[in-house]
Amino acid sequence: MEQIFVTDVAPRDGLQNQQIPVSTDAKLELIDKLVAAGVQSVETTSFVSPKAVPQMADAGELVPQVNARWPQLRSSVLVPNLKGLERAHAAGAKEIAVVLSATETMNRKNINMGLNEALEVSEKTLAAAHALGLKTRAYVAVAFECPFEGETSLDEVLRLSARMHAAGAGEIVIADTIGAASPAQVKERMNAVKKVVPLAQLAIHLHDTRGMGVANAWAALEAGVRRFDASVGGIGGCPFAPGAAGNLATEDLVLMAERSGFSTGISIDGLMDAIAFASAQLQRPLGGRSMAWLQREKAKRGGIQPE
Ligand code: COA
Ligand code: ZN
Repeated sequence: MEQIFVTDVAPRDGLQNQQIPVSTDAKLELIDKLVAAGVQSVETTSFVSPKAVPQMADAGELVPQVNARWPQLRSSVLVPNLKGLERAHAAGAKEIAVVLSATETMNRKNINMGLNEALEVSEKTLAAAHALGLKTRAYVAVAFECPFEGETSLDEVLRLSARMHAAGAGEIVIADTIGAASPAQVKERMNAVKKVVPLAQLAIHLHDTRGMGVANAWAALEAGVRRFDASVGGIGGCPFAPGAAGNLATEDLVLMAERSGFSTGISIDGLMDAIAFASAQLQRPLGGRSMAWLQREKAKRGGIQPE
C-alpha cells in the first residue's frame, strides 16, 4: 500500500483559537494520545506574540518536554518572525514553520506586515533557521480564497511557493486557511504548484468549513500530493481569518485514505481516545464528519480499525 504522511496540527492550529485555556500538561497528554495512535508528525505550538494568541504562551515550556518525551516524533513549531525563531531555538525546537499569506490584507491581519515584508521576513527566517541547523516548513496561507480579498491569484500562489522552495523550505504547505476550496480548484492548483515544488516536498493544509475537506484531500491525492495537515477531532481555525471553521479532521482523512488503498500508520481507535480527551478539556463534543458512524461502530464491535 502506498503511504501518505500526516501532520496533526491540533496542538497548534486546533488549540490556538479555543477560548478555554488548555494547560501545558493537557497539551502533553493530547500529544501523548496522538503518538499512541501512531501519528509521527505534530505541529506542537507556535512562538507568536502571547498578546495575539494567549493559548500559545507556554510554547517555551512545552517544546523541551515534547523533545524529551518523544525524541523520535517530528515536532514542528510555527514562527512568524526572527523573534519567534530565536525563542523557538532557545526552547530546543528542531523544525520551524514560517507563515506567508498569499494576499496583502491577510498578512496584515495575521502578522501585521504587508506581503512584501512578510515574504522578506519569511526568507530571512528560513535562512536563519537553516544556519542553526533546523528543518523548515513554509505555509502559503489563503492559497485558494482570502476572507478579505476573495479568490486568491494562482500566479501569486505559484510565485510565493517558488520563492519558499528557492529559500530552501523543506516542505511547502499550501493552505486553504478558511476552508473555501473546491475539489476542482484543489486539483488545478496542486497540479500547477507541483511544477514549481517537487511533490516530495509539497503538503496541503485543509479546513472543512463547507464540508469539502475530505473531497479536497482526495483531489490532492489524485494530483499526487502525499503530505497532509489535519487536526484530530477537527479542532481548529485561525483567530485572524473570519469564517475559518475547523480543520480537516485527522480521523476523516485517515478513514478516507485507508478505505481508498493508502496506508497512514494511524489507528482510528487511538485518535478516538485523543478526541475524547480533547473533548473533555474543551468541554464540547468534537469529531469530524465520520464521528457519529465511528462511535456507532466502536460501540457495536468494541473498537474499529479501517480494514
Ligand atoms: N513572540 C513573542 N513576542 C513577539 C514576537 C514573537 N514571535 N514577535 C514580536 N513580539 C513582541 C515584541 O517583542 C513586542 O513586545 P513588547 O510590546 O513587549 O515590546 C511586541 O510583540 C510587538 O512587536 P512588533 O514587532 O511590533 O509586533 P506586532 O505587534 O507587529 O505583531 C506579530 C507581529 C507577528 C508578533 C504578531 O502579529 C503575532 O504574533 N501574530 C501571530 C498570528 C498567529 O499566530 N496567527 C495564527 C497562525 S497563522
Ligand atoms: Zn489552518
